[in-house]
Amino acid sequence: MMECRNVVVVGAGTMGRGIAHVAALAGYQTWLADVDESTLQKSLTEIEHDLAAAVAREKISEVQRSAALSRLELASDLNSVVPTCDLVIEAVPERMALKQEIFSSISNQVADHSILATNTSSLSVSEIASSSRLPERVIGMHFFNPPHKVRLLEIIRADQTSEQVIEAVRKIGVRMNRELVVVNDSPGFASSRLGIALGMEAIRMVEQGVAAPEDIDTAMVHGYRHPIGPLRLGDLVGLDVRLAVGDYLCRELGEEQFRPPALLRQMVTEGKLGRKSGEGFYIWTN
Ligand SMILES: NC(=O)c1ccc[n+]([C@@H]2O[C@H](COP(=O)([O-])OP(=O)(O)OC[C@H]3O[C@@H](n4cnc5c(N)ncnc54)[C@H](O)[C@@H]3O)[C@@H](O)[C@H]2O)c1
Repeated sequence: MMECRNVVVVGAGTMGRGIAHVAALAGYQTWLADVDESTLQKSLTEIEHDLAAAVAREKISEVQRSAALSRLELASDLNSVVPTCDLVIEAVPERMALKQEIFSSISNQVADHSILATNTSSLSVSEIASSSRLPERVIGMHFFNPPHKVRLLEIIRADQTSEQVIEAVRKIGVRMNRELVVVNDSPGFASSRLGIALGMEAIRMVEQGVAAPEDIDTAMVHGYRHPIGPLRLGDLVGLDVRLAVGDYLCRELGEEQFRPPALLRQMVTEGKLGRKSGEGFYIWTN
């Protein structure tokens, strides 16, 4: 198994920029790619800010900060960076057709030793793999928001993933300072399936007037020792993302606990997406 040196993160949104931050800090030569040039520039500013904040909190040294930045490059043309990379981590929006299109096209450009990972939070990794020229080299690397602070890496074994690739990704995860779990490919994996059931129920409780969002969150934080309540977490993740995952799990698993409440749908229609839009269950001022 060849050593992984170069990483391309495809999609520089909420997750992609955090994954690129973690990869560069771990010593990988990292390219962050996006179709939207302004998103790329914004991501770099955010990564610079997050790295500086980590130095201020004494989580990393100044030397680590500047080394990480020197290893990070932006790429608006994916075709120019993909052929030389050992690991691709895809973090584009949660749509099967888009992910399949990207895996199909990227797998035709990469070397045969490359690993193709998806950061999907719920979609079938096996179905994504089936669109690729190298299905046995496709795997789920599910990072959590924000990746530079939340250390879990859920590794998803697709039906086609080879054991060698799982072992290689375990090593990469350790080098990225992650806490690892390896799970089989099943809708919502281990993390989203439980997290979405809790999140949807919390929204149903707001809808039914059981309690205010702040009180529901406080109950979970202080009663159940969750580090963050389910409604605040939904705001951070993005309510549109939560809605899409809820719809998907409801369809795939057919269970009522995943059905998105009307309130969630209405908030997304009104553009109340959580932190990224400035309002969700909370008001977010920067
Ligand atoms: N938001 C979260 O908390 C979270 C957590 C874990 C996993 N995920 C998963 O990560 C993935 C990305 O989610 P996100 O919240 O970062 O989305 P996002 O919408 O914030 O970012 C997606 C980015 O992908 C870019 N993009 C779209 N098409 C592209 C293409 N063809 N090539 C390159 N870039 C392209 C967009 O311009 C955008 O900047 C999804 O699969 C999501 O389910 C999200």
